[in-house]
Amino acid sequence: MGQPTPSRGLYIATFGCQMNVYDSDRMAGLLAPLGFELVDDPEHAELILINTCSVRRSAEHKVYSYLGQLKELKGRRGRLLIGLGGCLAQQEGQRLLDQVPHLDLVFGTGVIHRLPELIAEAAAGRRRALTELDGPAAAAPLPIPPRPGIKAHLTVMRGCDNFCAYCVVPHTRGREHSRPADEVAAEAAALCAAGVREITLLGQNVNSYADPGGGDFADLLARLADTPGLWRLRFVTSHPKDLSDRLVEAMASQERVMEQIHLPAQSGSDRVLKAMNRRYSRRQYLDKVSRLRRRVEGLALGGDIIVGFPGETPQDFQATMSLLETVRYDYLFSFKYSDRPFTRAAKMNGKLSEDIKARRLAELQARQREISLETHRGLVGRVLEVLVEGPAKHGQGLVAGRSRCGRMVNFTGGPDLIGRVVRVRITEGRVNSLVGRLNQEEVQRHDTNDR
Ligand code: 5AD
Ligand code: SF4
Repeated sequence: MGQPTPSRGLYIATFGCQMNVYDSDRMAGLLAPLGFELVDDPEHAELILINTCSVRRSAEHKVYSYLGQLKELKGRRGRLLIGLGGCLAQQEGQRLLDQVPHLDLVFGTGVIHRLPELIAEAAAGRRRALTELDGPAAAAPLPIPPRPGIKAHLTVMRGCDNFCAYCVVPHTRGREHSRPADEVAAEAAALCAAGVREITLLGQNVNSYADPGGGDFADLLARLADTPGLWRLRFVTSHPKDLSDRLVEAMASQERVMEQIHLPAQSGSDRVLKAMNRRYSRRQYLDKVSRLRRRVEGLALGGDIIVGFPGETPQDFQATMSLLETVRYDYLFSFKYSDRPFTRAAKMNGKLSEDIKARRLAELQARQREISLETHRGLVGRVLEVLVEGPAKHGQGLVAGRSRCGRMVNFTGGPDLIGRVVRVRITEGRVNSLVGRLNQEEVQRHDTNDR
């Protein structure tokens, strides 16, 4: 007792969405007391965990190919344990253990808290796949990561009840569950006490959050905005049908809530939206967008689009192209439809060829690149507040950070700026980022108070 546990190397490979990034952070937090310490090279690991995604077929392929690469390492290093968690684990369960002999454990999205026990069993030679969803203990909060950075994720709700026709998520993440606001607030406070300044709230359907004790997502934002030490609050992903006027007003009035929203439309055609079971029309979507733009100054609006949903005609696709012109997304993630297990769309008629899907996707992405570039060039001359995150990916003597509206801004500056909010005058707009110049005299210092 009381002896420090010797450190054991833990390598986590994370695929997919921010929810997986959050879960991976929590796995590290959960395993730290057992002596596991994160390493950044799988060669130095005693345990490798792969946190997987299955939202699109391509995501699944990436996981299988990574798993294949680990086979040789496992062969060389007898004592190495390999575990696979996340959505693919939930979807495939025992099948994965049967098919992949170099896997030692498989754990679904609802049993992360049982990792210590599963790892101990695997170390004793008992391979197991555990995929219960929504067990009573699954709702227990997981410990925060040992050394959170300046930005952190915070899951406020899990699961989804929407059953969009193309989507596997309700099957891999289970039904919707919101965490009590008290618990969320306590976690936000703990993160900020550990030095976090920007929190992104996560949920598959974040804006349908409902505190079991009463209160909606707008109430939660207002409460969290008062967390001592917190400068910035963001959230993903919002479903258009659940975007309330109250939420728009909370965004408009709360200083610490950033001017950014991810609001996937998926299609611009009413016929396709109906087939997708999205439960809003093009008109309703556009009304919400214009209300947001009117009320939240400087808002950056992002979205997701699927091209080539079963039965999508050239006219349907043109309706999506025209949605791009009307909305003028600040950024857009777009995908070719792919069949997913258990989904209604997988059984639909009217599947399109890969070729047509690829051509539609290329056309859509080319137009969106132009729109993003035009918008970003329009920001030249403006001064934006940037939270400096670290050295820029490319270029000597440059640092990078995000504006309030979530845009990546690169500018000349030293490491002393990291972790501070500064004002930057934009000098150049690129497709996916901005370039600027530091307004030196306007640097805001946050070291003397909490804002
Ligand atoms: N095929 C293509 N794209 C999909 N998405 C979800 N399911 C599918 C699918 N079967 C996209 C949606 C969603 C994003 C996370 O992934 O656009 O918003
Ligand atoms: Fe999937 Fe639709 Fe739920 Fe989003 S809202 S997770 S797209 S089922």
